[in-house]
Amino acid sequence: MNKKVCSVREAVLEAEKKLKNISETPRLDAEILLSKVLGTTRFALFTMENSCIDENAAELFASFVSRRMNFEPIAYITNEKEFFEDTFFVDRRVLIPRPETELIVEEAVQLLKNIKESDVLDICCGSGCIGLSIKRASDCRLTLSDISPDALEVAGINANRLFPASGGISFVQSDLFENISGKFDLITANPPYLSESDMEEFVVKDLGFEPANAFFGGKTGFEITEKVLSQVNKFLKPEGYFITELGFEGAGFIKEKYCGLELVRLIKDYAGITRAAVFRNFP
Ligand SMILES: C[S@@+](CC[C@H](N)C(=O)[O-])C[C@H]1O[C@@H](n2cnc3c(N)ncnc32)[C@H](O)[C@@H]1O
Repeated sequence: MNKKVCSVREAVLEAEKKLKNISETPRLDAEILLSKVLGTTRFALFTMENSCIDENAAELFASFVSRRMNFEPIAYITNEKEFFEDTFFVDRRVLIPRPETELIVEEAVQLLKNIKESDVLDICCGSGCIGLSIKRASDCRLTLSDISPDALEVAGINANRLFPASGGISFVQSDLFENISGKFDLITANPPYLSESDMEEFVVKDLGFEPANAFFGGKTGFEITEKVLSQVNKFLKPEGYFITELGFEGAGFIKEKYCGLELVRLIKDYAGITRAAVFRNFP
């Protein structure tokens, strides 16, 4: 039988001490990691403070804490990230979904409210978090596309988890629209949008665990977004919508019109930063 090693409380306190210098939330990190190890919720941990954990659990917890001490993001250690209304599988093949990206989903769900059996394309899909969250709320036919076969594999894992019995999801490996065919009611994108100088500032420091091709958007950061904006109308049904996430500087580059597209609105996040733009195809 497995030896009992220490109590839940002792394990959390010891990990909190170790994580103090590398995390702004050492206690929270320790609790999330231990609840993952014990297969329980953070809330339940409070009720089992004096319970003992066994040798296997202690060993796994120690390995999680040491990965965190090496600055690995919590989501890659636990292989999960909450996004919109679901938990998504993530690993180092995909970007960890960010809360500001949920603004795209909220907007998309509103736009699709009155369209029956819509066709939706999510390019640069990564984990699939945008497209799959839209499908959960609107029951559309969904195409997920990314240049990275690895990312598409992760999107496939999430599609199987969220829609185990359903078809209606296609996967296309594509450099932007290169292999895309058909017309869509709505296209979404969270393209790479960091500039050369952002890459030096952030990726080296904070984002080093995530795939580099998820970030670099060209010299100014807007080059990939601009390319998408110049092509997207060919893949939209008449009056179809396109929503794209923007970097911090993105709003400064956005024009009112692109080949057949007109800007409908800009969306700000809760900090007042413009994070997304909505366009409509006016043929
Ligand atoms: C910022 S991440 C967004 C991932 C996901 N949509 C999200 O919001 O969490 C950008 C994604 O674009 C993909 N990507 C980069 N260049 C691309 C290209 N030229 N064509 C298609 N996808 C590309 C990357 O593989 C990555 O998955």
